[in-house]
Amino acid sequence: MNAKTALVTGGIGGIGTAICRRLSNDGMNVIAVHHPMENEHAAAWQAEQKAAGYDIAILGMDVSSPEECSTRLSQLLSDEGSVDILVNCAGITRDKSFKRMEDDHWYDVINVNLNSVYNVTRPLWDAMLENGFGRVVNISSVNGQRGQFGQANYSAAKAGMHGFTMAMAQEGATKGVTVNTVSPGYISTAMTEAIRDDIREAIIGGIPMGRMGTTEEIAGAVAYLVEEEAGYITGANIPINGGLYMS
Ligand code: CAA
Repeated sequence: MNAKTALVTGGIGGIGTAICRRLSNDGMNVIAVHHPMENEHAAAWQAEQKAAGYDIAILGMDVSSPEECSTRLSQLLSDEGSVDILVNCAGITRDKSFKRMEDDHWYDVINVNLNSVYNVTRPLWDAMLENGFGRVVNISSVNGQRGQFGQANYSAAKAGMHGFTMAMAQEGATKGVTVNTVSPGYISTAMTEAIRDDIREAIIGGIPMGRMGTTEEIAGAVAYLVEEEAGYITGANIPINGGLYMS
């Protein structure tokens, strides 16, 4: 059987890297999407993966641009034949209390975290339906499930991702295409490193497991969801948060 092709947005970030490595380990052709402004960093990242034994392709594409996604992904589809697995993992934070939030803080986060999901899924979706197989995994957040002080923009975008998941799961259900959300809690990455030390310590103090999660713990769930054997799971939201939010 031919290896499946997986596209991971935010592929060179903390969680994205672990997902790329895991899917590559599981025998997939993996393409990591990065921002075109990060070409140099992405090339260094790719070399680092190669040195560690992972052969991962890279694609510079601004996921907040519908035009760029449409052009690049149509080209990718004709080059690759199919993109079987899509992991929407691109995300940024612009944390501010709403009192201090400015237009750019809102629109940048909505564009990169939520509109990107439309921009990237749109050009790939019809082919997944036609092929009778597809896996879409949207990487949301515990803060889309429970809200977070200082993250009106991020929480709105992350909750929106799961709304998209549930609607799309219904549209893919009879066609072999599943759509699921994974909602990480606080995971050790550059994004959580950027939180002020005292605030971060207070957050960790509120996590029942008393620690942040690892990127590999997220990648493991994604790896399961994209397997054939997970074919009956769709529209789900898998929380991986050390008990921070239970529902
Ligand atoms: N609930 C209620 N009130 C709070 C609060 C909270 N959680 N946090 C702060 N406040 C209050 C403070 O008590 C303070 O009140 P007063 O003005 O009455 O004194 C006021 O809000 C301002 O507090 P700060 O000093 O914290 O305000 P700031 O402007 O310096 O910082 C902030 C605001 C940047 C949002 C900061 O609070 C912060 O970084 N919070 C953490 C946000 C967070 O968890 N981000 C997650 C990033 S990682 C990620 O997003 C990955 C993922 O998916 C989990």
